[in-house]
Amino acid sequence: MKHLFKKVLVCTICFSLGSVFAASQDTASEETIWLSSLDVSRVEQGWGQARSNRSVDNRRMMIAGQRYQNGIGTHANSSIPLLLDGNGVELSGRAGLDDETRNRGSVVFQITADGKEIWTSGLMRPGDAAKEFTLDVKGVKALTLLALDGGDGFDYDHADWVDLKITMINNGKPKLDIPPIEDAVILTPKPAASPRINGAKVFGVRPGSPFLFRIAATGDRPMTFSADGLPSGLTLDSETGQITGKLEKAGEYKVMLHAKNALGRADREFRIICGSQIGLTPAMGWNSWNCFASAVTAESIKAAADAMVKSGLIDHGWTYINIDDFWQVHRDSKDPTLQGPKRSPDGRILPNPRFADMKGLVDYVHGKGLKIGIYSVPGPWTCGGCVGSFGHELQDAQQYAEWGFDYLKYDWCSYNPAFEDRRDDKDWNPYTSPNIQYSGGDHPIKGRAPFKRMHEALAQQPRDIIYSLCQYGMGNVWEWGTEVGGNSWRTTQDINDSWNSMSGIGFRQAGLEKHAGPGHFNDPDMLVVGHVGWGNPKPTKLTPNEQYTHISLWSLLASPLLIGCDMTKLDEFTLNLLTNDEVIEVNQDPLGRQAGRITQEGTREVWAKQMEDGSMAVGLFNRSQREQTVTITWSDLEITGQQSVRDLWRQKDLGKFTGQFQAQVGRHGVVLVKIAPAK
Ligand code: GAL
Repeated sequence: MKHLFKKVLVCTICFSLGSVFAASQDTASEETIWLSSLDVSRVEQGWGQARSNRSVDNRRMMIAGQRYQNGIGTHANSSIPLLLDGNGVELSGRAGLDDETRNRGSVVFQITADGKEIWTSGLMRPGDAAKEFTLDVKGVKALTLLALDGGDGFDYDHADWVDLKITMINNGKPKLDIPPIEDAVILTPKPAASPRINGAKVFGVRPGSPFLFRIAATGDRPMTFSADGLPSGLTLDSETGQITGKLEKAGEYKVMLHAKNALGRADREFRIICGSQIGLTPAMGWNSWNCFASAVTAESIKAAADAMVKSGLIDHGWTYINIDDFWQVHRDSKDPTLQGPKRSPDGRILPNPRFADMKGLVDYVHGKGLKIGIYSVPGPWTCGGCVGSFGHELQDAQQYAEWGFDYLKYDWCSYNPAFEDRRDDKDWNPYTSPNIQYSGGDHPIKGRAPFKRMHEALAQQPRDIIYSLCQYGMGNVWEWGTEVGGNSWRTTQDINDSWNSMSGIGFRQAGLEKHAGPGHFNDPDMLVVGHVGWGNPKPTKLTPNEQYTHISLWSLLASPLLIGCDMTKLDEFTLNLLTNDEVIEVNQDPLGRQAGRITQEGTREVWAKQMEDGSMAVGLFNRSQREQTVTITWSDLEITGQQSVRDLWRQKDLGKFTGQFQAQVGRHGVVLVKIAPAK
């Protein structure tokens, strides 16, 4: 028989850029291809982004002290799905944990061919030499390279596939089996021209604090607002819908709000709870970080406020315009707009020259019917290296209140629980000697103290300031965030606009639901839709389905909703995502419940939350790359009988169902429904 495959050339030197490892002259002959030549950026993994020839942290790959030039750096749990169409011959390479994890993490590497395991590394730990494999893949159609967590969660599981190459025949090329991105379909009908009252149905205020609430309503203008049962001390501006004044006595007040225009009128019950608790529903607004990061200016804040009004977002309940890091003077920046005296001689915090007129800025934002937030840290320096609040907590809280701020995000950077022991030490200056050795911010008492201290400072102020903790979930903050006065607390590290980051964070919230309730919410970080980019905003890398998943999940989770994009570049799709009032109502529901994971079958998950009106908001999610049917049974939801199901994104009744509901859900997508006993 004629020899079919002839190796014409075997090259042992790898070309640094080319994908072809050993070329052939004969179409039937073999070709060896580095798998790092594929675009791996959309590979699914638990954290970060897969990279060619670099580790997941974007370093040169190193396993057990040995450098590798070529390979794919991933993070568990990751799956690299390859299509070979039966043209593969041999797959070879090595796998191991990257040394950058500094002795942390554990991974099991696995390779499957047409669904069957053909190789596994067994449990690998940091420092283990890379394990080598050479596998026969003749006739294989689909090959999957998996890096799975070693049974202790996926933290620090930086998993490298190195020297990874495949020999192919028949001019075949390995392809990544990742379907193309779907079209951006707008699902939600435009708001009606007749009035609809949106936003929070319950509002908390402390006795004596200025009352600030604007009735959010869609519909043609002019619109006239009125209210029945407004307690004395409060007045409503009939043109703007703004309720202002003061309540002196604690108590609960039931009010009926009305909005009227030429086409009709809307009524809605509104509860005012005057007491110690504020922030009864998750904060909704915008924050500068995910868009501008260190480039934020007073002008960009004003532009965001303008856009919040002009886009109509304000009419759906979006309220806060929050300045993140970089309004203060920087430690040592060369940028003159970040320089200046850090505090006045009497210790008052001074804004940097970009925010020369802070009071003017606050008044400007308030003048638009919006509220405004500010940012600091308990340490001497913020995460970006600007002045923090250490030793000046009360003074800073007073200053925020004097300027008129309504919200404080209190981060963690540069704080060290060991500072707690040195606060009264006159000879110790944390600004010049912050290097007390202490690792981890999860100290059971000292890690909480700085947050409690700022809460107490805020509580003394004559205005209500929402308090948002940001220490990334250390020390199970959800268990004590309420105790230190937090209205919300970040549960994770920073989000970015990739599927792995967003879905990893979102779906990891399972189990935290018992810690959320009116006035205190888990915060899985800000929204990454629209133009985002930390100083260099570009359209989000989340696909349309992924963006629906993001907003649905954050709504179900009763998470603070803080838009992170350039508000001056809102496109129609993004605006549609942020203005579906039925979806927002899931987030703002007065019960303040956070959805829990009801079922999980592989990549299919159903999450549900109880709503005040007796219905359930249910998200049917598909975390896979292919469309799937997702089913929820009444018994899993602990409901019975005939139920009406309404599609919330399409704002459309789907009919009456008995026993279960089933939907086709697109890749990385969601069907979000409301299920209520049929009338
Ligand atoms: C991070 C925080 C971000 C942002 C940043 C500012 O610690 O998680 O959301 O606030 O600091 O430097």
